[in-house]
Amino acid sequence: MILYLEGLVLLCLLVLGGVKAQLDTQIPIGNFQGNSSNTCHDACTALSSILGEKVHHNTSLPSSLFSGYYTLMARSTIPLCIVHPTSSEDVSVAIRIISQHTCIFAIKSGGHAMFPGGSTAAGGIVLDLHHLNALELSEDRETAYVGTGNRWGAVYEFLKPWNLTVVGGRVGDVGVGGFLLGGGISFISRRYGWGCDNVRNYEIVLSNGTIANISYTSHPDLYFALRGGGKNFGIATRFDLETHPNLPEWLGGFNFMLLSSTPTLLSSLSLTRPFKVTLSYALETTSQFLVSIGCKFGYCIDLDTFVTAISRLPVESENDHDAMGYGIVSLIPKANIYVVGTHTVHTGAINNATAFSKLVSDLNTKSMHSTVRTQHPYGFMQELDTHNPVGVRVTYNTATFRVDRAFMKEVVKIFVDEVERIRGLEGFMGAYTTQTLARDEIGQMEKNGGNAFGIMEEDGPLTILLVSFTWGSSEDDELVVRTAQNIVDRAVIIGKEMGVHHPFIYQNYAAKSQDVFAGYSVENQKRLRRIQRDVDPEGLFSRLQPGYFSL
Ligand SMILES: Cc1cc2nc3c(=O)[nH]c(=O)nc-3n(C[C@H](O)[C@H](O)[C@H](O)COP(=O)(O)OP(=O)(O)OC[C@H]3O[C@@H](n4cnc5c(N)ncnc54)[C@H](O)[C@@H]3O)c2cc1C
Ligand SMILES: *[C@@H]1O[C@H](CO)[C@@H](O)[C@H](O)[C@H]1NC(C)=O
Ligand SMILES: *[C@@H]1O[C@H](CO)[C@@H](O)[C@H](O)[C@H]1NC(C)=O
Ligand SMILES: *[C@@H]1O[C@H](CO)[C@@H](O)[C@H](O)[C@H]1NC(C)=O
Ligand SMILES: *[C@@H]1O[C@H](CO)[C@@H](O)[C@H](O)[C@H]1NC(C)=O
Ligand SMILES: *[C@@H]1O[C@H](CO)[C@@H](O)[C@H](O)[C@H]1NC(C)=O
Ligand SMILES: *[C@@H]1O[C@H](CO)[C@@H](O)[C@H](O)[C@H]1NC(C)=O
Repeated sequence: MILYLEGLVLLCLLVLGGVKAQLDTQIPIGNFQGNSSNTCHDACTALSSILGEKVHHNTSLPSSLFSGYYTLMARSTIPLCIVHPTSSEDVSVAIRIISQHTCIFAIKSGGHAMFPGGSTAAGGIVLDLHHLNALELSEDRETAYVGTGNRWGAVYEFLKPWNLTVVGGRVGDVGVGGFLLGGGISFISRRYGWGCDNVRNYEIVLSNGTIANISYTSHPDLYFALRGGGKNFGIATRFDLETHPNLPEWLGGFNFMLLSSTPTLLSSLSLTRPFKVTLSYALETTSQFLVSIGCKFGYCIDLDTFVTAISRLPVESENDHDAMGYGIVSLIPKANIYVVGTHTVHTGAINNATAFSKLVSDLNTKSMHSTVRTQHPYGFMQELDTHNPVGVRVTYNTATFRVDRAFMKEVVKIFVDEVERIRGLEGFMGAYTTQTLARDEIGQMEKNGGNAFGIMEEDGPLTILLVSFTWGSSEDDELVVRTAQNIVDRAVIIGKEMGVHHPFIYQNYAAKSQDVFAGYSVENQKRLRRIQRDVDPEGLFSRLQPGYFSL
């Protein structure tokens, strides 16, 4: 029976693979309709005449041009033309032409933006920067030159022979450009800060086509703005990243447990499910039976113990700058079973991971499914890669709070309440994580004049709530996206009531409807707008790039 339970959780973790299979049938062979204004045609024709074969301008763009996008929604958003620059000069030429027309455009690096329009433009122009994938190490090995078109997996692979690493993504398939311009949470962020805090120099193309190197010493204002300002200031072509030593081994992995209080939680809710949710009575009964058996064998945890352990982790690990850990609450699809878990990675000397041994004893339960082990750092990236298959329908939504036990408990209830309304939808998977933003991590954000977020060290420790849903059918897009938003909206309301809400909204986890820059401090918003007026007086990057977060 326990083996069967483990199988069920594995199934839960791997079920995303089933969603992946839709890919082949849903790739657009786009007959373009829609934003077919003459000005877009003129812009694409002008781009073609100067950049030649680097421009794909056709009513029938082959699906291979869209396979670099993470979500199915982005893959089925069809632009009028796609430009594949191979140098910063190409990008400069393209932006000069674009600025002479009024056609919408979007920039793509790794294509992991979570909503349609993030790095693609229906009926407009896409600058797909994947050819800008240069990788070099400086002679003193202190800086890696990384083209924006790289994926993090390739960057780590390149640095491996030198035993070096950079502050990059935790999933290898994620792109360099969007990650670094929005922030960038890494396994080693407690020691060095976020990705954007470890860029020594940005090479960017400004709205007038000028190519410039931007560092703290050369342009302190624009450098500040690029550390979290997203797509609003220029097109980054290359990042010079500080390198850091890479250890041969880290200790970490997942731990999952059954949430024993699910039935109590559910009975306290008065649910009105939409008619679409059709659940098999037999399946529900079976899963409740499995939970009760699992609990008898000690694989269950009650909500109080879980939220207590998770809220103590930031305190217990406060002085350990190598301890990255977060809590997970997830639904096993189609079944009435909620699992909770932790993901911990200790990036320092292995026998020093005391905060995590404390966590295990706080959890006071057997793990139903554990992957905790010592392994080479890339193994942890690969593990997350397998849980994040590409080509899915997905939505992210986020908000930030102070770490508080009572509040965390309320969020679990809100999550269950909302997920219960949609969990029967085809291919639905729902989870949320609480990622600690520790004080040492915030402290690192202050180096070189600080980043644009406006988070103060004394605000910490904070927790970044990330709600992520995947599902199968385009018919359910609106309902699922709205439900994820509901969870975060309700958490924010309760967080404000309890005095634990923090205004920061992490751009790389935000939904399109969220007002990211309103969450930066008022002072920083003003400064960003002033810098924007200096470097992009016409507002090219906000006006003609409506798909992502505009200042
Ligand atoms: C599976 C998965 C795992 C993730 N893991 C992490 C994680 O561990 N830590 C974390 O912090 N985030 C993580 N994220 C979020 C990730 O950082 C964002 O999705 C990020 O935007 C991805 O960058 P990209 O280049 O792939 O995306 P893109 O879609 O190419 O770009 C995102 C946006 O950034 C802008 N942009 C991109 N490149 C440039 C450029 N060169 N110049 C100007 N603007 C540009 C574009 O406007 C675009 O809309 C993850 C996302 C996914 C899907
Ligand atoms: C194209 O899209 C832009 C931005 O959404 C919009 O302003 C414009 O009106 C659209 N043009 C046409 C012809 O639909
Ligand atoms: C447009 O695509 C079609 C079909 O893929 C191809 O036959 C045609 O040559 C293309 N036209 C141009 C101008 O590239
Ligand atoms: C990297 O580390 C390995 C094992 O510790 C060592 O053998 C190798 O010489 C190191 N490489 C460099 C370039 O320092
Ligand atoms: C930016 O700096 C790099 C490295 O020094 C250099 O190769 C490149 O030409 C510079 N770009 C500009 C526009 O000055
Ligand atoms: C382990 O932690 C102790 C106490 O925090 C510290 O003194 C020691 O240097 C650490 N060891 C390593 C190898 O990092
Ligand atoms: C382009 O804009 C930048 C920043 O405002 C400015 O420094 C530069 O002189 C401009 N270049 C041209 C050719 O106008």
